[in-house]
Amino acid sequence: MSRWPPQRTPIVRKPPALGVTLAQIECDPYKVFERLRERAPISWIDPLQMWWAVRYADVQAILAAPAWFTTSFETSTIFRTFGAHMLTEEGAEQERFKAPFRGTFAPAAVRHSFETSVRKIARGLIDGFVRHGAGELRADLASRLPVLTILSVFGLPHTAEPLLRSWYDSFERALANFTRDPAVAALAQANVVQFHELLQSHIDRVRGTGDDDLLSRLVNQSDECLSDDEIRRNASIIFFGGISTVEALILNSLYALCMHKEVMSAVRADRSLIPSVIEEVLRWLSPVQSATRHVVHDIDIGGVTLKAGDTINCMLGAANRDPAVFPEPDRFRLGRPQIRRHLAFAAGAHFCLGSHLAKLEARIALELLLDSCSGMRLDPAEAIRIEGYEFRQPRRLPMRWQIPLSA
Ligand code: HEM
Repeated sequence: MSRWPPQRTPIVRKPPALGVTLAQIECDPYKVFERLRERAPISWIDPLQMWWAVRYADVQAILAAPAWFTTSFETSTIFRTFGAHMLTEEGAEQERFKAPFRGTFAPAAVRHSFETSVRKIARGLIDGFVRHGAGELRADLASRLPVLTILSVFGLPHTAEPLLRSWYDSFERALANFTRDPAVAALAQANVVQFHELLQSHIDRVRGTGDDDLLSRLVNQSDECLSDDEIRRNASIIFFGGISTVEALILNSLYALCMHKEVMSAVRADRSLIPSVIEEVLRWLSPVQSATRHVVHDIDIGGVTLKAGDTINCMLGAANRDPAVFPEPDRFRLGRPQIRRHLAFAAGAHFCLGSHLAKLEARIALELLLDSCSGMRLDPAEAIRIEGYEFRQPRRLPMRWQIPLSA
């Protein structure tokens, strides 16, 4: 057994994690993170039957050490739901799966290929509700924009939106199926089969054509070739990765702007501040709060012993509020130094493939809302509840604004 990093404190197996409960984690994880960061940075969370790492340095180190902490674990829910893909593999196999997608999701390619189409989709959605002067922005915009965007990226018809949404909801329930309800798992697996049938029909249609969508490029490229099955499995994780996450980023950004009136005014006066707002939202209210790893070899870390096969969640939301890296971490601060050091998209080999697309979608949504919805504010009639352990966001975001004169 190895010691990593060097230990000064006695090693204990599964120390009590300061009485952490699921209710606390769900409602206000930040108080829990603060306590654990100070007193038990690697701690056993009994209600979840897993370890947590909450300090920035530990999270970053674990994510950079796939030989010790891996995503590759055959009983993981994500593997059982979708099969092998870039997020369930490590090393050369992971890179073989990821490489063919990198070009499409690189920053310049994202701007060049998707700026116009995402703007058109967002414009259409906003035009559908702007004249009402009020709306629930999750249902009206944030939950729909990522689904329509990802359909466009793959060259699939927008008419598939309701079907994809219902499949997606079943995948999400399966990944949060901590009680292992077999009906939940079975429905998700049946929906994966249907999703793969939809992808395969498109693959068959575009094979040999010169179309320019992602699936066509993957099917027709001569090097970095993936089989149809590999394309379908990796496409599943791209679909899965790009929906709730972006929804949460848009909602959390709107919430942060409404809660910080001085930032809202600054951004209204200068739209070039939007990218910095988005970076600070990613840190302050990280849409994805954790990245799961499985321990490969027994290891001593942070004063405790982890055994091979244990699960450890790297708490990105906690790392992003670590005062060792971000002074006054609970403050939402535009222009914070080191703003891009956040770990909202993780780190290491599994760093988010779609980070630039996510930021593009959020930027365009904010730009168009600020242009269209003058006096945008939270609806005072409803208290906003931010919830969620793995994806954190308001469940509903009712807002009001001035009805445009042209309506
Ligand atoms: C705000 C939005 C997003 C956030 C916060 C986010 C966050 C993350 C995180 C934390 C990981 C690493 C998971 C791990 O290491 O266990 C990840 C991986 C991934 N994300 Fe995202 N994501 C977002 C948007 C997207 C979008 C739009 C797409 C697709 C278009 C996407 C596709 C992926 C894929 C395919 C991976 C796996 C990469 C690999 O294993 O190499 N994500 N994302």
